[in-house]
Amino acid sequence: MPTIVDRNLSPATGEVQTDVNSTPRKRTLRSDSAKQSSPMKLKSPRRFILDSPNIKTELAEKLTIKTPVKKLSDSFQDKPVWNPTDVNQLRTVKEALHVSTEQPTVVCREDEQKKILEFCKQCVKQEKSGSLYVCGLPGTGKSLSMDKIKGSLIDWTQEEGLQSPDVFALNCTSLTNTSDIFTKILTSCQPQTKIRGPTSPLKQLQNFYSQKQQSSGTRMMLIIADELDYLITKDRSVLHDLFLLTTKPFSRCILIGIANAIDLADRFLPKLQSLNCKPMVVTFRAYSKDQIIKIIQQRLRVLPYTVFQPQALEFCARKVASASGDMRKALGICRSAIEILEVELKETTSDVNISVIDNGFSDQTTAAAGEILKLQEKNVVRIDHMALALSKAYRSPVVETIQSLPQHQQIILCSAVVLFRRAKKDTTIGELNKSYMDICKTTQIPPIGIMELSSMCRVLSDQGILKLGQSREEKLRRVSLKIDEADITFALQGVRYFRNCLQ
Ligand SMILES: Nc1ncnc2c1ncn2[C@@H]1O[C@H](COP(=O)(O)OP(=O)(O)O)[C@@H](O)[C@H]1O
Ligand SMILES: [Mg+2]
Repeated sequence: MPTIVDRNLSPATGEVQTDVNSTPRKRTLRSDSAKQSSPMKLKSPRRFILDSPNIKTELAEKLTIKTPVKKLSDSFQDKPVWNPTDVNQLRTVKEALHVSTEQPTVVCREDEQKKILEFCKQCVKQEKSGSLYVCGLPGTGKSLSMDKIKGSLIDWTQEEGLQSPDVFALNCTSLTNTSDIFTKILTSCQPQTKIRGPTSPLKQLQNFYSQKQQSSGTRMMLIIADELDYLITKDRSVLHDLFLLTTKPFSRCILIGIANAIDLADRFLPKLQSLNCKPMVVTFRAYSKDQIIKIIQQRLRVLPYTVFQPQALEFCARKVASASGDMRKALGICRSAIEILEVELKETTSDVNISVIDNGFSDQTTAAAGEILKLQEKNVVRIDHMALALSKAYRSPVVETIQSLPQHQQIILCSAVVLFRRAKKDTTIGELNKSYMDICKTTQIPPIGIMELSSMCRVLSDQGILKLGQSREEKLRRVSLKIDEADITFALQGVRYFRNCLQ
């Protein structure tokens, strides 16, 4: 039976590369963003997840009750187990799980892709401008889907004998100034235009789309503005101006803006609507456990061998889904689990060689045959490898601190997450207290009074977890989270009543 190896995180495995090849982000909604931003004082340098009783219990449950190890091989009947010591196999497997490996299809995003493609087709068919706003947390397949849609749209126009639109795709993180987007669009749709003149590129674009174009065959232009979050300015004027380009009388733009901030729409759409611009909205929801499993399985389908114990994949998918639903993270963790197995096997192989030598020549064949059989089972990525990879990926001072907080402070954080999921990003002590009381009631934990709750909020604020506003009346003080919601969810999910509340 595999045991949870209580070792320090092996330097040989390197750091977990959860975000391999991802664009550097100035502003992200990732769970690890909190790690950089919150000035946390670490009180207890506790070892993380593997040492946490929650994960251990969960792991023990899985290993002993649901998936006895002697049955391990039962799960791998369709394909032979791979050989991780074969350099070529190792490379192929890692490539299949690499974020930047091209995907022939984007599973689990069929509906979203269909909606966006249909929207583009209508615009092209009717030669009508339009705008669409795509939003969803990082790693939910927005950019990947958009890439596929772009290709499908061009193929479709060719099949239909229609004029394909010019495509201008831009990652807004590459802009030095937010308003540079207009310069880029202008150079793309009118390469001959002189940018330096008294008229700003935005004004030139507005003029251009307000007049009837001389040549009737001017192509439509598909503008894909990814990582739109970077265009948020105080007055959001750049965002507004960008979308408003599609409302000009002779506009030929099909604008698709892609944002990670899921609440951006609430903040800027109402104003746009008042200006008579109503972009269609497509939301990419965070991937669920089942979707994450399906996507990984789809990626592994190209391999002629089995790499993961199915329970290990499920374990990874469940943890990632409950923390962020970020596919990048899931892939990074799977690759990291493989590296952990790789190191383990290197250690075991040298042990095997020593034991064969010790046994002498006569026993060599029998010993080697037995070892080969054992190695077959050892070659798969198991739950213990995955648990270690998960603990490395989510190990953060914030998570550790939350896990070591007193119970009532944890309940307060849980109540805050529940509240913020339903409504806006801040609340009052009074509202927080109501949500806290609800949780205490369902979990039958005797609540503390509002004054005590308020002083606990101050403690949490001193630790950099909550932000507290000022008010003459304690009940009316505004409260918001200073750390990522996903870190709280992840830190508390091992305790059943928190898990139930946060589901
Ligand atoms: N449905 C999917 N199928 C296969 N891989 C996916 C899927 N969704 C996401 N991924 C993987 O996760 C990575 C991140 O997805 P991406 O589209 O860049 O996310 P977003 O733009 O929403 O932040 C992709 O590069 C891809 O490797
Ligand atoms: Mg993206």
